[in-house]
Amino acid sequence: METKVRIDSRFPSMGTTIFTVMSRLAADCGAVNLSQGFPDFQAEPELFDAVHRHMLAGRNQYAPMGGLPELRQAIVDKVAALYGPRFDVESEVTVTAGATQAIFTAVAAFVRPGDEVIVFEPVYDSYVPAIETVGGKAVHAQLKFPDYTPDWEQVASLITPKTRMIMLNSPHNPTGSLLTGADLDRLADLLRGTDIAILSDEVYEHILFDGEQHASLCAHPELAARSLVVSSFGKTYHINREC
Ligand SMILES: Cc1ncc(COP(=O)(O)O)c(C=O)c1O
Repeated sequence: METKVRIDSRFPSMGTTIFTVMSRLAADCGAVNLSQGFPDFQAEPELFDAVHRHMLAGRNQYAPMGGLPELRQAIVDKVAALYGPRFDVESEVTVTAGATQAIFTAVAAFVRPGDEVIVFEPVYDSYVPAIETVGGKAVHAQLKFPDYTPDWEQVASLITPKTRMIMLNSPHNPTGSLLTGADLDRLADLLRGTDIAILSDEVYEHILFDGEQHASLCAHPELAARSLVVSSFGKTYHINREC
């Protein structure tokens, strides 16, 4: 007897990502692939040696859920050296398998069905699916040509009693725009007296040009108290051994 099983995706119309489409096209056409950040150089040999050494030493078992204590301590020290505050190693640092997982996990932890989350267009492509997967609604603010910085009046007009979170991305993918200290002060004014959380995607914190400085939410005590700040080993250590 044939048993028919129908397992329906919650997102039947969701296709693949633009990265998959463009990278496949670049490979098919033999084109230079500028669409996805593949480093075109080998990782340092010391990295391969270290992975091998630690696996031989038996460190390939389950890690503690929040990340190895030594790694979390190193993150606390790095953030303190860069941005000032020394966050609590036990309760304020979590290691995930990449920034994409951190973003999804943060959204899943805080956004409830029916909640609104403000995102800035153009928006990195994992944000909206994460919001919709947990039953939230993405509300779109626009970053406009030529400088692609937030219009805080527009953001103010989008905040409602249902707003649960604002997702920031600076340095911004794909425009490269940066939030300034003045932007963060303006945002702090807007959010004072609300319970709105911030997810601050800072994965490109070390990719800066022309002497520009990164304004991390970590360094803004009022906003840090309501923020989840996301960094990425992939972005940071593919580009700079000194970080
Ligand atoms: C803005 C932004 N956030 C997050 C990520 C994901 O980082 P990870 O590779 O650590 O998952 C990317 C990757 O392209 C990105 O561009």
